[in-house]
Amino acid sequence: MSDTSVAEAFLVQRDALAQSRWHDIVRPADLAEGEVELRQLRFALTANNITYARFGDAIQYWRFFPIDETRDKGWGQIPVWGIGEVARSRHPQLAEGERVYGYFPMASHLVVTPEPVRAAGFVDAKAHRAELPRTYNEYARLDHDRGYDPARADQHLVLRPLFALSFFLAAHLQDANCFGARQIIISSASSKTAMGLAFLLAQHKPADVRIVGLTSPGNAAFVARAGAYDDVVTYDAITTLPADARAVVVDIAGDHKVLAAVHRHLGDTIAQSIRVGATHWDSAAANEVLPGPAPQWFFTPDHIVRRRSEWGADLLRTRMAAAWGAFVVDTDRWLRIGHGVGRSAIEAAYAEVLAGGVPPEMAHTLSFTQTA
Ligand SMILES: NC(=O)c1ccc[n+]([C@@H]2O[C@H](COP(=O)([O-])OP(=O)(O)OC[C@H]3O[C@@H](n4cnc5c(N)ncnc54)[C@H](OP(=O)(O)O)[C@@H]3O)[C@@H](O)[C@H]2O)c1
Repeated sequence: MSDTSVAEAFLVQRDALAQSRWHDIVRPADLAEGEVELRQLRFALTANNITYARFGDAIQYWRFFPIDETRDKGWGQIPVWGIGEVARSRHPQLAEGERVYGYFPMASHLVVTPEPVRAAGFVDAKAHRAELPRTYNEYARLDHDRGYDPARADQHLVLRPLFALSFFLAAHLQDANCFGARQIIISSASSKTAMGLAFLLAQHKPADVRIVGLTSPGNAAFVARAGAYDDVVTYDAITTLPADARAVVVDIAGDHKVLAAVHRHLGDTIAQSIRVGATHWDSAAANEVLPGPAPQWFFTPDHIVRRRSEWGADLLRTRMAAAWGAFVVDTDRWLRIGHGVGRSAIEAAYAEVLAGGVPPEMAHTLSFTQTA
C-alpha cells in the first residue's frame, strides 16, 4: 500500500468464509481527544481465528471490529492477535512509537480510546466494545510486559492467545483432581493449544493418569516426536482407548465426528467432556445427544475473571509468566514460524489456515508492509 491516508482491511463473507476481499478505509484526518491510532505491525493466524469467525455471530466476535453494515452487509473482520505501534496519539500517556499487544482486526490500522491507561496496559473504551468480554479489550504495553521477549515476538503472537486456554484449562483440571480420571484424552493433539495443555498437565498430574493425544494419521508422527503425550492414538483407532478407565475428554477443534466416536466408545466412563473450539463447526451434528455426560463449553474469558478474583491479579500474572516461560522454551524444539508480508501472503495464509492445511510444526505471522 503506497497511499498512507488509507488503511487496508481484509474482509471475509461471514456465512461463506472462503470468500474474501480487500477494502481500503480512509484513515481519520484527526483523532478525537483521548484517541490513539495503532498501526498493526504483525499478527498471527491459526485455527483459533477460524473459530472466531465460525462463532462470529454466536459469541459476537464480529462486533469487536464492526464494518459499515450499509455498504458491506454480510462481511466481517476476523479478530487476530497482533502487535501494534502507536502511529498517532491524542492521549497524554501514550507516545508515538510505543508498542502494544492485543486484539486487532485483520487491518493495517485501528483507532482505540485507551481508558484507563496503566503501566501494564490499557483497555479500549470504545462504546461498541463495552459489552464484550474485557479480556479481548485489553492491550499490553510491551515495554512493561515481563512475559514478552522481543527475540520471541513471533512465538508470543502465535502461542500467547492459545496458551491462555491451555493454562486456565490445566488449572481447572488440576483443581478438580482431573475429576478422578485415569486418562485425559485431548483431540487435535497436534494443535498448539493441545500441545500447551498437555505440556502443563504433564508437569503436575499424578503418575497413574495418562495423557492421550488423539490426532489424524497424517499428524501422528509429529505428535509422537514432540513427546507431549503419554500415548498417541489416531482418529481411526478410537476404539482402542481403554473403555474401563475413567476419562476426561477435551475436544480442542470441535470435530463432532471425533467427539461422537469417543463418546460412543467410552460412554459413562467419561467423567467430564469439555469442548474448547469449533474450527469445524456443524451445528446440526452438534445437537446430537451423545452417550455419557453432555459436553460442556470452556470459555477462557470467564475463567480469567474467576482466577483474577480468586488469586488476585499479581499471583495470576506470576503463575502465568512462570508457566509461559517454560512452555515457550519447549516450543523451540518443535515449532517453526513463517513470516509473510503483503496482500498475497495474507490471502495465501488465510486460505491455508481455513482449509486446515498448515502442518502442525508450522505457524504463520503476517504483516501488511515490509517496514513492520
Ligand atoms: N475456547 C477457547 O478459549 C480457545 C482458545 C484457544 C484455542 N481454541 C481452539 O483450539 C483449536 C485449535 O486452535 P490452534 O490455534 O491451537 O490450532 P492449530 O495449532 O492451528 O492446530 C491445527 C490442528 O487442528 C486440527 N484440525 C483438524 N481439522 C482442522 C481444520 N479444519 N482446520 C484447522 N485445524 C484442524 C489438526 O490437528 P489433528 O491432526 O491433531 O486433529 C491441526 O493440526 C481451535 O478450534 C481453537 O478455536 C479455543
